[in-house]
Amino acid sequence: MSSRGITDSIREKLNIVDVVKDYIPDLRQAGRNHKACCPFHNEKTPSFTVSPDKQIFYCFGCNEGGDMFTFVMKMEGLTFVETLKKLSLKAGLEWQEAEYHQLSEKEKERLAIKKVLAAAEEFYKKLLFSSNGEKARLYLGARKISKATVERFAMGFAPPGEPALLQELERKGFSTELAVKAGLAALRDSGQVTDYFRNRVMFPIKNAAGEITAFGGRALDDSQQPKYLNSPETPLFAKRRTLYGIYEALPQIRKTGRLLILEGYMDVISAHQHGITFAVAGLGTALSTDHAAFIKRYSKDTILMFDADEAGINASIRASDIFMEAGMYVKVADLGEELDPDEYLNEHGVEAFEKKLLAAADPLEFRISALLKKRPGPMSSQDKARLIELLLDTVARQTDEILKSEWIKTLSARFDVTQESVLRQLNKKSGAARNESRAAGSEPPAASALPDVPAIELGFIHLILKDPGLTACVGELTEEDFQSPFSKKIFSAVKDMAGGEPAKAIPGLLELFPESAGLIMKLSVEEISDMNPEQNAAKAAAMIRKLSLERKWKSLKSRLSALEPAEIEEFRRLTGVLKSAAKSEPNL
Ligand code: UTP
Ligand code: MN
Repeated sequence: MSSRGITDSIREKLNIVDVVKDYIPDLRQAGRNHKACCPFHNEKTPSFTVSPDKQIFYCFGCNEGGDMFTFVMKMEGLTFVETLKKLSLKAGLEWQEAEYHQLSEKEKERLAIKKVLAAAEEFYKKLLFSSNGEKARLYLGARKISKATVERFAMGFAPPGEPALLQELERKGFSTELAVKAGLAALRDSGQVTDYFRNRVMFPIKNAAGEITAFGGRALDDSQQPKYLNSPETPLFAKRRTLYGIYEALPQIRKTGRLLILEGYMDVISAHQHGITFAVAGLGTALSTDHAAFIKRYSKDTILMFDADEAGINASIRASDIFMEAGMYVKVADLGEELDPDEYLNEHGVEAFEKKLLAAADPLEFRISALLKKRPGPMSSQDKARLIELLLDTVARQTDEILKSEWIKTLSARFDVTQESVLRQLNKKSGAARNESRAAGSEPPAASALPDVPAIELGFIHLILKDPGLTACVGELTEEDFQSPFSKKIFSAVKDMAGGEPAKAIPGLLELFPESAGLIMKLSVEEISDMNPEQNAAKAAAMIRKLSLERKWKSLKSRLSALEPAEIEEFRRLTGVLKSAAKSEPNL
């Protein structure tokens, strides 16, 4: 089957509304369309629109749009072929490995890496339960990890010494080069290639679809550095986009909208074992804007819970800044003891843990208590001013104006200063921050521009996109009569399509004019309350025609003394036509 064949069969079986709903459960019907807050930019009122009639989506806020394939590609960062595979599964169609020959080199490489990672997972799992794996099993036992949890997270063991994985992979026919590309083997200074992970408990890292993209390995000996080793970045693995545990946690997150972000592998595993199955973790690096964008799609109630040490507190502040700036509401939980979540759960149990989650504070409250903990006792006015200055950093990042003004009240009450002075200090600060970001050239990109089209032409194109058949009632109107190149090309293309199936018109246009996809989608998704489309299309057509004739007339008139005889004839004719048009249709 060609890729065109597959896309058509997928389109037959799937509705874009259902595909989008998998990612945005909040999608709600509004008139003929469905609406939700846009997953591709920050907004609080929905301008993301899905049209079941046209089988496309479009966001009136950021101008992102496309069909179900584009949607899944953008949402998951997949290639086209990966998207085809995913949607053909959803559609219950068989995905033939024969499609393989159509894959690009890059896609083939990603597939090969996935295969070798899966083989490595099998090997590590097998070793954990072999006699060599005893030390790792004892370690997991000491950390109170059950066998069921080991299986749920597909944990394994990478042995010390010999490059055991490489030998196994070679036996299975994988090349050393591929093992290196997948981050499973590394080239030593000596020129030798060895296993990347050795003498470690292994944690496969999966993407949201459950495919392994990388590994993390915890050292078994205290002398081993680093304690946790992650796969290097590969074509499949970027730390800034990965959350450990997301595949295991996603069903619960989808169900409840709750998401808990912890600091490490063991915290996530321990949380799941205790029934906190909506927990995930970053991978040792700071949480990124990519994480925020991903999390925002799934979670309404995000809680950060890092270790209760200095590093954990700072990481919580940095992460909550990023989430706030992404327009998300996030809370920070504090265990209040020098324990990490894994230790806390084992010591105090899940009920005490849930209480800590319930007591999670907003980022400002969290920061106030963290700062006050560091400086107990009475404060001088200067101390106060310095403290407020630090806290205003958090306030300035809040994108919700209501919350921001609540926070100003909080600061004023907590530190016994007037709200006006807090506000003035905040404005000074935001002014400085804005100038800084301008200087650095980091203004957010504006929504991609749409072409300028006269309103009357836009209204007319809007009508014929809804019903190409309307091009039959346009009188003498021709392509030449339009002012904007956009209207010209759309009009002539829609006219050619008028006899065909209306549902096919939009995809056809998008294919013909990819450069105008934004406006085509905007218009075809936008609703018109139109009682009498035929009459309105005819009126608009007459108006466009008239404006065009007037333009021609004016241009001739401006060169009146230099006109050729034929042009003079044309000028006379136009004068007559325009006069009689003015008489017969004074209200046009
Ligand atoms: P921690 O050192 O707090 O780990 O690092 P932990 O969860 O308490 O580890 P255990 O309990 O001793 O096993 C937290 C996270 O930081 C990353 C890992 O993702 C880890 O889970 N990290 C830590 C590394 O990537 N490398 C390191 O060497 C240490
Ligand atoms: Mn720990």
